[in-house]
Amino acid sequence: MRILVAGGTGFIGAALCARLADADHQLAVLSRDVLRVREPALGVARLDDLAGQPPWDAVLNLAGEPIADKRWSTARRSRIRSSRIDLTEALGDWVRRLQVRPRVWVNASAVGYYGIAESDEPVTEAASGDDSFSSRLCRDWEQAALQAETLGIRTCALRLGIVLGPDGGALQRMLPAFRLGLGGRLGSGRQWMPWIHREDVLDIIERCLANPHLQGPINCTAPNPVTNREFTRTLGEVLRRPTPATLPAWAVRLLFGQMGEELLLSGRRVEPQRLRDTGYRFRFERLESALADLV
Ligand SMILES: NC(=O)c1ccc[n+]([C@@H]2O[C@H](COP(=O)([O-])OP(=O)(O)OC[C@H]3O[C@@H](n4cnc5c(N)ncnc54)[C@H](OP(=O)(O)O)[C@@H]3O)[C@@H](O)[C@H]2O)c1
Repeated sequence: MRILVAGGTGFIGAALCARLADADHQLAVLSRDVLRVREPALGVARLDDLAGQPPWDAVLNLAGEPIADKRWSTARRSRIRSSRIDLTEALGDWVRRLQVRPRVWVNASAVGYYGIAESDEPVTEAASGDDSFSSRLCRDWEQAALQAETLGIRTCALRLGIVLGPDGGALQRMLPAFRLGLGGRLGSGRQWMPWIHREDVLDIIERCLANPHLQGPINCTAPNPVTNREFTRTLGEVLRRPTPATLPAWAVRLLFGQMGEELLLSGRRVEPQRLRDTGYRFRFERLESALADLV
């Protein structure tokens, strides 16, 4: 297939491009810094640079300003939103102008879609969100992507959990403290942390490309979500390090503001219902085996 990837230089995107290139797909990566695009993908700085190219079979949209590494100032909130929603709309406008349109569009979104309610009830794709920043962000981002459906393009909105991989993402931020035996739970530790191994994310994206029956929202989370308390204990066990510390909720709020409240102290018990219905078999179903593979 000929595939255009936005965000193909990122933690998920770079691994995905390597996998797709190995499978002999032809790739172009839309990037603000084309020097970071790895061969054999073609790096493009602007969509107009693709003029004159043969038609594209698929669009994969994984771009977005990092959301979990700093406090959400007003300027940052605006960058987080525009790097996702404006870019998705720009991709949509480009696709609309094409004579031959892609058959499939796969868009990243996140389990933040389901909001921040404190609850142990399992959440499937049928659930709705709330008025939190992350829920509104995911809703608006998905709505922008799902416009492609009106052009007859099959569109998959991946609601990603915390993606675990060896060279980036949340795990890379947690490991230094845990390796020193300073890891610990956040707040009560009762908030859910729906997680997924990056290899499963790549498998699911390949499945979305190939399976004409997959479309709409798809929860990309392993079938056994854990609470923050269980995550902390398991990571400590896998590393054979104690996890005695607790960062109290007030300290998380003081350090990280609303970002801490929504992304660190809240989390829903998300279930991969749609993937289950389609018979997807996860490579990593349990957190212990995923972490053992990664650390
Ligand atoms: N990793 C996770 O655990 C996780 C969980 C849920 C949802 N997601 C979502 O999945 C997508 C991919 O995740 P990731 O972890 O691979 O993200 P990432 O490593 O932060 O990379 C995302 C890419 O987005 C582009 N980007 C960054 N800031 C941008 C900006 N201001 N304007 C336009 N483009 C910008 C960058 O590409 P260039 O520098 O090449 O332009 C970057 O390579 C993200 O949208 C993320 O929100 C990730």
